[in-house]
Amino acid sequence: MREKEAIRRRIEELRKEIEFHNYRYYVLDSPVISDAEYDRLYRELLELEEAHPEFISPDSPTRRVGGEPLEGFERVTHPAPILSLDNAFNTEDLYAWRERILRLLPPGTRLSYTVEPKIDGLTVVLHYRDGRLVLGATRGNGEVGEDITANLRTLRTLPLRLPVAGDMEVPPFMVVRGEAYIPIADFEKMNRKLAESGEKTFANPRNAAAGTLRQLDPRVVASRPLRLWCYAIVAAEGPVPTSQWETLEYLHALGFPVVKERARFDDFEEMVQYCLSWIPRRDTLPFEADGLVIKVDDLRIQEQLGVVGRAPRGSIAFKFPAREATTRLLDIGMNVGRTGVVTPYAVLEPVELAGATIRKATLHNFDYIREKDIRIGDRILIKRSGDVIPYVVGPIPDVRDGSERPYEMPRTCPSCGGPLVRAEEEVAVYCLNPACPAQLVRRVEYWAGRNQMDIAGLGRQQAALLVGEGLLHDVADLYFLRPEDLLRLEGFAEKATENLLRAIAASKKRPLVRVLSALGIRRVGSTVAEILVQHYPSLEALAQATREELEAIPGIGPFTAQAIVEWFADERNRALLEKLRRAGVRLAEEEAVPAVAQTLAGRTFVITGTLPTMTREEAVAYIRAHGGQVSESVSRKTDFLVVGEAPGGSKYRRAQELNIPMIDEAELRRMAEGRGGFETRPV
Ligand code: IVH
Repeated sequence: MREKEAIRRRIEELRKEIEFHNYRYYVLDSPVISDAEYDRLYRELLELEEAHPEFISPDSPTRRVGGEPLEGFERVTHPAPILSLDNAFNTEDLYAWRERILRLLPPGTRLSYTVEPKIDGLTVVLHYRDGRLVLGATRGNGEVGEDITANLRTLRTLPLRLPVAGDMEVPPFMVVRGEAYIPIADFEKMNRKLAESGEKTFANPRNAAAGTLRQLDPRVVASRPLRLWCYAIVAAEGPVPTSQWETLEYLHALGFPVVKERARFDDFEEMVQYCLSWIPRRDTLPFEADGLVIKVDDLRIQEQLGVVGRAPRGSIAFKFPAREATTRLLDIGMNVGRTGVVTPYAVLEPVELAGATIRKATLHNFDYIREKDIRIGDRILIKRSGDVIPYVVGPIPDVRDGSERPYEMPRTCPSCGGPLVRAEEEVAVYCLNPACPAQLVRRVEYWAGRNQMDIAGLGRQQAALLVGEGLLHDVADLYFLRPEDLLRLEGFAEKATENLLRAIAASKKRPLVRVLSALGIRRVGSTVAEILVQHYPSLEALAQATREELEAIPGIGPFTAQAIVEWFADERNRALLEKLRRAGVRLAEEEAVPAVAQTLAGRTFVITGTLPTMTREEAVAYIRAHGGQVSESVSRKTDFLVVGEAPGGSKYRRAQELNIPMIDEAELRRMAEGRGGFETRPV
């Protein structure tokens, strides 16, 4: 008996401890033990529970993996109505709201306001009796929701027992409201995984959260990255805070996840400015927020103000400008890329979206059009997040009137009329005609790009003009242009002509590595080009290389080797090289490149900010060429942070935290050239 009691106590202790570490890890994001230690505790608990099933309890952390599937969800009546919010779309709406409520309050009332992000997820209602989670429900119609306790238990950030840490007193009964959501990064990862295993993907994190919580199999829920933010006490027996600000602090102290981005204002004007300041910053939040929620801080005043319809007068949602809009799909156009990939885009009835007029949106690829059954004439939903180009989410089939036309997959290139071919196992569709004018325009544009031959004044528009006028049949033709060819073109007065021809001539002297990457050989960007140039001092030498030889070079994989050999095997490409040679473009290093001393071997570098003379790619290639490694993020394994102009905050901070030496480009070069020690930059 004594032994049994000891086991029971140990189990309790382990549960408490594990939940505490869950909280440190998932909620505070600052674990105090290692994963291995955590695993040990967890395993011990699991073994004890297996040996003593009589002690198994639904609020044990081991149950977070999800129990048996359910037949359906039970209905739950909420202890108080689960209200929603009125919206404000601009500052006038906010001022009008203040006017409205002040009129209802005794003259001279001074209000404070709490502001929180409006998390775009799904409301959940959590019941705690004597500090234990006993029920979790959806909002439903605000009066009655569904019992999704089994699903909610799997959320690692949801406290199963209160308080999670310390020994605060907990009311005998308390109902907490929160929002379940999926962080953006986790959402993207999850969608990728779903797509890979051929499952249906979700349109956005909100749908994913909602779809997941409605799952009848809690094990599926446990496998999804759902999280939680809590922000209100809906009902309680016993004393609870009387202001919104204190409620958030109180929930936080009990171990509930509470958003960090919360603020309180005594001054309305300041509060409005704060709200506006979030519009351009919304993408810095790791979760989707469609606005901010402003709440009169004093909950007794909230109460006094009452409810209109389903919305409390004392709170309002300040909505961010929409990033989704519906419009009509007028047509589907096609883009031809430098490598001949043809991609569709949507031609839209112009629509305002997040402060811009949108006329075009991506459709990803031709399969996407078919999978989503997008038809010309459809009303469609478009979306724009951050600076990303807007894309078509899908059609709204319910409003079709029958005049919509299914899209027919094109068989020919919109530019040259050549046949379109689909590469096996790829979604991409190609135009295989190397003389295709659209491809040529993009090749010329690429050739002239800043990281390739760097020809100022030669962008896509000029390239299109020159190709359209029949002046260019390949990039080498650039070097045979005469002033009289250009002078007759629109936009080419004397000065512009002279400048362009000078820039073209200057590009002949670009180093071999740039020429090699400008050729646009598949898989050969500047990093690979850098490696190749170390081994082959001329394009002529590279042309002789066999696949095996190339593959033996560290950093060159089999597909890259194959692409290189194929490129040089093509007679048209050989003819191009010959023409470039005649034009005087440098096709070899001036002198044979001496073997590079591996001065940076065994060292790992991270680069942040813009370096004075090297592009990022060049710096990476430079470090690798000297035997060093480059990594994307700072960790304990990083030896040096190379710091340029406007360094990225997180890398910089992390390096500071870890005491990692910071060097500038000059110092990097000194190290690479074996000129001894380094100086760390003053921090
Ligand atoms: S307060 C009476 N605070 O937004 C209180 N709601 O349209 C009403 N939401 O259904 C809710 N984040 O699901 C509140 N920090 C937050 C919120 C929030 C997201 C959701 C909530 C509600 C909807 C309002």
